Amino acid sequence: QSGERDKLIEAHELTSKLYHYLLMNTSHGQPALEYLRSRGVSDKQIDQFMIGYAPPEWDTLVRFLDKREFKAEAMEKGGLLIAKQDGSGYIDRFRDRIMFPIRNSEGKAIALAGRILGEGQPKYLNSPETMLFNKSRSLYNFHQSRAAMRKTRRAVLFEGYMDVIKAWTAGVTNGIATMGTSLTENHAMILQRNVDEVLICYDGDSAGQAAVFKTIPLLEKSGLRVLVAMLPKGMDPDEFIERKGAEAFIRETIERPVSVTKFKLIYAKKNHILLEEEGQKNYMLEAVAIIAELDSSTEREFYLKELSREFDISLESLKQDCFHHRQQHQ
Ligand code: GTP
Ligand code: MN
Ligand code: MN
Ligand code: MN
Ligand code: MN
Repeated sequence: QSGERDKLIEAHELTSKLYHYLLMNTSHGQPALEYLRSRGVSDKQIDQFMIGYAPPEWDTLVRFLDKREFKAEAMEKGGLLIAKQDGSGYIDRFRDRIMFPIRNSEGKAIALAGRILGEGQPKYLNSPETMLFNKSRSLYNFHQSRAAMRKTRRAVLFEGYMDVIKAWTAGVTNGIATMGTSLTENHAMILQRNVDEVLICYDGDSAGQAAVFKTIPLLEKSGLRVLVAMLPKGMDPDEFIERKGAEAFIRETIERPVSVTKFKLIYAKKNHILLEEEGQKNYMLEAVAIIAELDSSTEREFYLKELSREFDISLESLKQDCFHHRQQHQ
C-alpha cells in the first residue's frame, strides 16, 4: 500500500518535471510559454510553481512512464493515464494543456490540473480522486504558504490557481485555493490549525460572491475570523493585478477588506431595487435582520447607525426592530 503510494508520488514528481521541461526547453512548449507570459506569469513564477506543458500527442506520458517501468494500470488508477475504451492500452489524461502540479502538505506532487490554452471547454481538467488526491482536503499552494500563514496568522483564500500565482508576485505569500470546488469542513479544519483569520478573496462575479456567502459560515464554525476582499464587478484577482498592477491590488483589495456583516449587507443590497420605496424598506428589514445576528451590542449599534444615516431613519426605530428580531430568534 505505502509502496504503491510512494510509486505514484514518484510518477507525479517525474511527470511534473517532464511537463515543466517541455514548457521551458522545447519548441513544443513555446505557444504555452507565450500564453503564460501574455498573462503576466513570469519565468520565476513558472519555476516556483513548476508550471508545465502537456503536449497534444496521445502517448507522451504513456511512453515516458513505461520507459521508467511504472505499471500502466497503476498510473491509470493514479489518474495520469486513461484506459482506452477497447481495452487495447492507455492514453495520456492531459494533452495540450498548461499544467499545474498539485502538492500535498509535504510538497510532494500528488495530482495535476491542466488549463486549456485560450478559450475552450473544459477550461480546467483536474486529476480524479485517487489514493493520493482528495479534493475536499487539498489546498493549492498550502505547502509553500504555510510558513507565511503561521507567521501572519492569516490565510488569503482564492478561487483559482492563477489568482494564487499572480497574488504571490504581489507579495501575498499566504495565498491558497481550493480545487475549483467549494470549501469544505475539512479545508476549514486544516486552515484553523494554521491561522486565526481567513481573508476570502473570490472573484467579483455573481458566482464568486455567492461562493463567499456559502464559505463564511463554514470558516466561522471552525472558529476562524473572516474578512472579505471586495473586487470590482466581474474582475478576479488575477485580472485585477493584470489591469491595475500588484501595488493597487494590495492597496485596494487585500489591505481594505470588509467585515462579514458589511459583506452580507452589500450582498443583500444587490437583491433590492433601492430606487423604489418597497425595495428600500425590504432592504432595511433584511439589513436589520443581519445586524441582529451580531453578539456585540457595540457592533450592532455601529451598523444600525450607518443604516440610520443612509436611509434617514431614526436609530431608535432601527434599534427597536433589531431588538424584536433578537427576541424572536433566541
Ligand atoms: P483563468 O481563466 O485561467 O484565469 O482561471 P480562473 O481561476 O480565473 O477560472 P475561474 O474563475 O473560471 O474558475 C475558478 C476555479 O474553478 C479554477 O481555478 C478551477 O480550479 C475551477 N474551474 C474553472 N473552470 C473549470 C472547469 O472547466 N473544470 C474544472 N474541473 N474546474 C474548473
Ligand atoms: Mn525550471
Ligand atoms: Mn469565476
Ligand atoms: Mn477567476
Ligand atoms: Mn482568472
